[in-house]
Amino acid sequence: MLRTVTATRYVTPLREGGSLPGIVEADDDGLYVLKFRGAGQGPKALAAEIVAGELARDLGLPVPELVLIELDPALGAAEPDPEIQELIAASAGINLGVDFLPGSLPYNPTEPPDADLAADVVWLDALITNVDRTPRNPNLLRWHGNLWLIDHGASLYAFHGPDPLARAKNAFPPIRDHVLLPAASSIAAADERLAGKADPARAASLVPEDWANGDLYAEFLHERLQAPRVWADV
Ligand SMILES: Nc1ncnc2c1ncn2[C@@H]1O[C@H](COP(=O)(O)OP(=O)(O)OP(=O)(O)O)[C@@H](O)[C@H]1O
Ligand SMILES: [Mg+2]
Repeated sequence: MLRTVTATRYVTPLREGGSLPGIVEADDDGLYVLKFRGAGQGPKALAAEIVAGELARDLGLPVPELVLIELDPALGAAEPDPEIQELIAASAGINLGVDFLPGSLPYNPTEPPDADLAADVVWLDALITNVDRTPRNPNLLRWHGNLWLIDHGASLYAFHGPDPLARAKNAFPPIRDHVLLPAASSIAAADERLAGKADPARAASLVPEDWANGDLYAEFLHERLQAPRVWADV
């Protein structure tokens, strides 16, 4: 189970994010990036955040803690932007929270991570079909000198179309635009390191039932992890 906290204060919108995430304070005194269930991308984007983020954690990759956040729309009363007011009103109840990394910096390609770590991230993103780790939009942060992975909402996009399971074994050509590919060691070696470590059933079981059918995500990824893994041939 993901931990559940209750938002106690809406601090500020994060305007750089396409889905207009906000920073909130919660009743455990933590600060979280709140991803709204009522945002345009819908609850499946939040399901993808959970499944992809928790799979990454299984692989030993650094992902900020994910929590569920109970949101009382009254917290948005002081927010002047009507678009954000609407988002808050449409997201009463449970949302996704990402532990806020204070003072983190955007990814700097002149300081790439260790080549094996880069290869592991490329392999993960090919597994979860993540189109959002490009030079233009790396969705990587540097915090206390280490690389952190954020924003997996655009991954697992087959679930936005018909019959995702039929596409489970597909190749993933957009991996060629991955921001860490130039810095990565062998992806075949990453495949050997990682394929046995992912636990899709655990990750998928963490998705709230009314956001998406977690069993389908588990089945999709289970299939995708069976050899031959064409998608890992990067
Ligand atoms: N956990 C975090 N700690 C610190 N900063 C964060 C965190 N999560 C997100 N941010 C900041 O907020 C920005 C937007 O977050 P994120 O990428 O998750 O949102 P998004 O709406 O999915 O964005 P987009 O679709 O535009 O990439 C990030 O680029 C980063 O600068
Ligand atoms: Mg982003």
